[in-house]
Amino acid sequence: MGAVDFGAKLLRLYAGADYGQLGLRESDHNAMYAGKRLPLAVTISATHRCNLVCSHCQSENSDTKEDISTERFLKLIEEIAEAGATRVGFTGGEPLMRKDMGRILERCRQRGLIVSVVSNGWLVKRNIDWLRGINLLFLSLDGGREVHDKIRGPGNFEKFVEAVSAAQGAGIPVAALSTLSSMNAACVPEMADIIVKHKLHWMVGMIQSGFTKRSDQDASKRQMEEMVRTVAASPNLRTSKRYLDFVLGEGEMKRCFAGIGYCIIAPNGNMYPCFPAEFDHAGYAGVAMLDGADKQAADGYRGISILEKPFQQAFDELPLYRRTCSTCALACHVEANYLYEFTPDNIRQSLKLMRPAA
Ligand SMILES: C[S@@+](CC[C@H](N)C(=O)[O-])C[C@H]1O[C@@H](n2cnc3c(N)ncnc32)[C@H](O)[C@@H]1O
Ligand code: SF4
Ligand code: SF4
Repeated sequence: MGAVDFGAKLLRLYAGADYGQLGLRESDHNAMYAGKRLPLAVTISATHRCNLVCSHCQSENSDTKEDISTERFLKLIEEIAEAGATRVGFTGGEPLMRKDMGRILERCRQRGLIVSVVSNGWLVKRNIDWLRGINLLFLSLDGGREVHDKIRGPGNFEKFVEAVSAAQGAGIPVAALSTLSSMNAACVPEMADIIVKHKLHWMVGMIQSGFTKRSDQDASKRQMEEMVRTVAASPNLRTSKRYLDFVLGEGEMKRCFAGIGYCIIAPNGNMYPCFPAEFDHAGYAGVAMLDGADKQAADGYRGISILEKPFQQAFDELPLYRRTCSTCALACHVEANYLYEFTPDNIRQSLKLMRPAA
């Protein structure tokens, strides 16, 4: 699947749909997009199990305890490829906690999928043989040594450095993934130095405190402006300018392709359009992010299980989710939406991520 093929598919999706929809009800969306969806990218939470308990993480809020079996996972990869997807991303929890990840990544490779993995780094070195061959490894970096370990636990910064070196030694492009918040606002310049020193791509996103039922980790407007100024000056930044403008309230997210051009799958096989929809189902984000009467009415969004239906059918029938859109700023989705809107900067940055950083 080349870039041209991806572009052609995206063009069809883009041309076939009518947008400007963020105020619409779920049922209106479903009618509007019937027959016009194409799951170009799929993000899979391989497991919600994790060896860490980071202070900002929403993973503990998940209500999904069971992981799908290896057999179903391998079949899912086949179904995703057959549905026309080009990209698969693995996250979690800690995806490398699954002992069968090597087999799953190998199946992705056989099917020609572009693969990325997001990891905390602990298990990278020992699993480097089967990680070799993925297209991009995201390693979370939430501060300099001191702040990173404060957020993620002692010894984590060392593990991050070890994972960077193992992955780069294996020829895998590596991007540091940083969640910006009040906790690390002061050390963003230190992070910028680490990125350059270790020759890493850098992607940042603002913390979504609605997922964690906490608000004390949100950065202030002044902190955000300062952080954005610092990251924007980094030659290794792959986050788009449009996203940075968006988080400062200077831009807008016009269209959302969640459930139309991409979806996510939870560890138990439940498919959702996006992460806010999953956590709404778990009873957190929806309740935390809504106000007044809407809050009372929120009864949790329901996805569709791929244990009950093949991937393609589940995607075609997936109820679209538009409940917390007005507050959604989740970097992975916002950036994907910009890419799907053919924003030149996002296309350029995505292509750079496919090669090791200079
Ligand atoms: C949930 S983790 C899963 C992958 C892996 N365990 C890791 O830490 O990289 C994926 C990314 O989400 C980020 N994250 C965790 N909680 C978040 C929140 N409340 N808002 C925004 N990002 C968050 C993490 O820092 C990490 O970079
Ligand atoms: S390592 Fe990742 S999944 Fe685990 S607690 Fe930290 S951010 Fe969450
Ligand atoms: S919550 Fe965010 S990602 Fe989900 S449908 Fe709304 S805008 Fe899109």
